[in-house]
Parts: sequence; C-alpha cells; structure tokens
Amino acid sequence: MKALLEVRNATRSFAGLVAVDSVSFTLAPGEILGLIGPNGAGKTTLISLISGTQAPSAGEILFQGESINHMPAFRRARLGIGRTFQIMRPFPGLSVLDNVAVGALFGRGGGQPKLAVAREHARECLEFVGLGKIIEKRADELGGPDRKRLELAKALAMQPQVLLCDEVMAGLNHAEIDEVIDVIRKVRDRGISILVTEHVIKAIKSLSDRLLVLHHGEKIAEGTPDAVLADPVVIEAYLGKKRA
Ligand SMILES: Nc1ncnc2c1ncn2[C@@H]1O[C@H](COP(=O)(O)OP(=O)(O)OP(=O)(O)O)[C@@H](O)[C@H]1O
Ligand SMILES: [Mg+2]
Repeated sequence: MKALLEVRNATRSFAGLVAVDSVSFTLAPGEILGLIGPNGAGKTTLISLISGTQAPSAGEILFQGESINHMPAFRRARLGIGRTFQIMRPFPGLSVLDNVAVGALFGRGGGQPKLAVAREHARECLEFVGLGKIIEKRADELGGPDRKRLELAKALAMQPQVLLCDEVMAGLNHAEIDEVIDVIRKVRDRGISILVTEHVIKAIKSLSDRLLVLHHGEKIAEGTPDAVLADPVVIEAYLGKKRA
C-alpha cells in the first residue's frame, strides 16, 4: 500500500549529540506503528521532526509523496498531521471544552471558522475520549490521567489523517491504559494512521501492527511486534536494560 507518511534518513543533532540518526520508515494508511526505545532514544525528537516543531539537520519527511521539510508546524497541522505532547501544555485557564475547541479552530484544512461549531466538535471529541462529563472544568484542575485524555482530544479535534501519540499512557493504571488502547483503536477504525510511542510493552504490543525500535537515535529493528520483541538486539538494548 502507498505510504501516507515517509521518513527518509531523518537526522537531528543537538550540539554534537545525534538524537535521531538517519532514521527511515513509512506509515501506511490505517496503520498503527509503535515506536519504542529506552529513555533518550530519540522518540520525541522524531515525532517533532514529523510534526514540524523541530527542523531536521538532514533527511526528508514526505506526506502523501510530497516533501514537507520546509513547512512550518501549523501548515503540517492543516495538512492533517496531528500530535500529542509528552510534556502536556494545556491552556491552564481555559475550560476543557475550549482547550479542545482551539484544536478544532486550527486543524485540518484550516480548521472550523465558527467558534460554536468548533465547540460542538470539541464536545464530540471529549465524549469520544471519555471526558464528556467534565467539559466545563478548567484544564489546570485535571489530574494526570485526564490531562492525557485531554491531550488526545485536542489532537483529534484537528481531524488529523496522521496522529502522532507521544506517551499518552504514561502514568496511567492498567484499567486506564486499556481504555486509552480502546480509544486509539477506535481512532484507527475511523481511518486515521497512528504513530504511537510507549514504554508499556504489553500495551504497545497489543496495539501495534508493526514496531520500530530506536536506540541512541538509530533504528535498530522494525517488523511485527512478535519478531521485534524476540530480536536479541532489541532485548539487549531495551528490554535487557529494563530487566536489569
Ligand atoms: N532540545 C534539545 N536540546 C538538547 N538535547 C536534546 C533536546 N531534545 C532532546 N535532546 C536529547 O536528545 C536525546 C533524545 O531525546 P528524546 O526526548 O527524543 O528521547 P525519547 O526517546 O523521547 O526519551 P523518553 O523515553 O525519555 O521520552 C536525549 O539525549 C535528549 O537529552
Ligand atoms: Mg520522549
């Protein structure tokens, strides 16, 4: 199947440290690709290169076959590339509803110009992620798990074609993780392609069609979850460390 997103030799250095080192992969329409690797492996940086919040030092990002390298983040969002942030930054003084309405106002195709319609769409997104009952709360009143859900709702309100999820399950308990897995599956059932980073291996294994593993910025494995998680190189780089 033709790739919706293609990353070609993406590289990003920070003053001598190569955070992402010539990484290439594709994301197919409707696919869930899991991105794993130890702390500092380069996962968040790779997501930032795709969403446009950071510029690559080398390499190319293509969306529907066209290079988007020189496109700022807001234009990539209009094209349909949505993301969540590992470090959540809701507008603290705005209601949960209005935080998500902002996503609807600036999303795919230029967003929804009417605030009332944006709020209605935001309400649907909040129902979808399980926050339908607390839409009037201020964002800074939410606890960690609900902030994660809010992060997802904000990205979904932008009506992305590609959703980049950066640790949306971190800090959640088992039941909450299962709920988020369910939400992400439902997002995919709507035809959205998803790149998801996660440290909870059980969760990412059950969710992903394929896994890609980063270690010190380099791609060290890619394939089906079973094959990747049985790969000795991956076990040593990632799981081995976790078990030690
Ligand atoms: N803005 C920056 N300036 C300098 N170094 C950075 C910057 N952003 C990331 N790094 C470094 O790049 C490397 C990759 O970081 P990144 O946040 O992408 O890793 P990660 O895989 O997302 O880690 P985690 O699992 O902890 O979220 C790390 O060594 C990090 O310290
Ligand atoms: Mg990260």
